[in-house]
Amino acid sequence: MDKSGAKVMPTDTPELMAQAVREAVTFLRAGELVAVPTETVYGLAANALDQRAVARIFEVKNRPPRNPIIVHVASIRMAQECVAAWPRTADLLAKAFWPGPLTLVLQKAKCIPEIVTAGGDTVGVRWPDHPVIDAVINACGFPLAAPSANVSSQLSATTAQHVQRNLGEKLQLILDGGPCPIGIESTVLDLTCDPPRVLRPGLIHESAISAVLGRTVATAQAGKHDEPLRSPGQMLRHYAPRARLFVWRGDDEKTLQILLAKHNLAAVSCHLITHVRPPTQIKFGNVMVLPRDVRAYARVLYAALHECDEACASAIIVRAPPESPEWSAIADRLARASAGEGHS
Ligand code: TXA
Ligand code: MG
Repeated sequence: MDKSGAKVMPTDTPELMAQAVREAVTFLRAGELVAVPTETVYGLAANALDQRAVARIFEVKNRPPRNPIIVHVASIRMAQECVAAWPRTADLLAKAFWPGPLTLVLQKAKCIPEIVTAGGDTVGVRWPDHPVIDAVINACGFPLAAPSANVSSQLSATTAQHVQRNLGEKLQLILDGGPCPIGIESTVLDLTCDPPRVLRPGLIHESAISAVLGRTVATAQAGKHDEPLRSPGQMLRHYAPRARLFVWRGDDEKTLQILLAKHNLAAVSCHLITHVRPPTQIKFGNVMVLPRDVRAYARVLYAALHECDEACASAIIVRAPPESPEWSAIADRLARASAGEGHS
């Protein structure tokens, strides 16, 4: 077999899309893995009803066996087949936000193998808003178990090239749907507890969920656990680039100098990622100014971090996002990507 990487199939004309979907379905029916785009990040997909196929996901990602995998569907009816009960809360939220970046944790149905749920009795389900995975699920006729297509605890992939670079040698097929339009992972909401609880923040914010449910939902924040982890994706160090990442909480040259000195960093080998051009003469290896709009920022953040890794930056300094609630998912990912490095 060619060891140079996986086959990457484009999907940008109807003919190419049809070919790519056909090939993916052949692989998935045979119990093989295929990397597919979703609106959030690329997923590493397997037939969710085939425990041997799902076991391959854990192997390829080096994923801890205690970390359950999200099941992707292409209709509300298909989601209902994956769960033991479909409460009114699920119905309200699915009708408001699906297809879209919201994962609902519910009691699992018998047909979902235990390996998908890491032995637990709940399953995370979501209907992604992307034509490629939607077409693949519809053509397969079965749901797809798909975690983010990256080595466990590392950065998620938002392009087919990210998947190829980081997992390509272990995969046979990647469908290229272009850059993911959302760019960070879905909101994960546990509906099996009362009140419902956000296990992982995302761009569908808790206030939007509360508005639909007509009641306030609880949140679990990285590093602020008051009970045993319900979602191992809450593990503190996660979503991390290879370079050390520091969150810069300041707005002037002096606070940047302090950060560099405190961690013994040479500016020339550091990359700075900011959403406001910094008032500084310091010569960084590179400075990237990302958009100030939260959705536009989320869309490019992981690509910027991948770029720092590819350029072999020794450290990445990211300006702290605004403190407003709409930025909470970005703040969460940066906190976990920098875990162990301390903040400044
Ligand atoms: O946007 C996304 O959610 C992407 C795309 C590919 O859909 N998927 C993704 O999967 O980020 P993964 O495996 O990297 O993260 C799934 C998160 C983890 O934090 C996991 O612990 C949590 O969802 N999760 C999955 N099933 C769960 C369950 N039954 N109970 C609690 N948490 C669950
Ligand atoms: Mg992940």
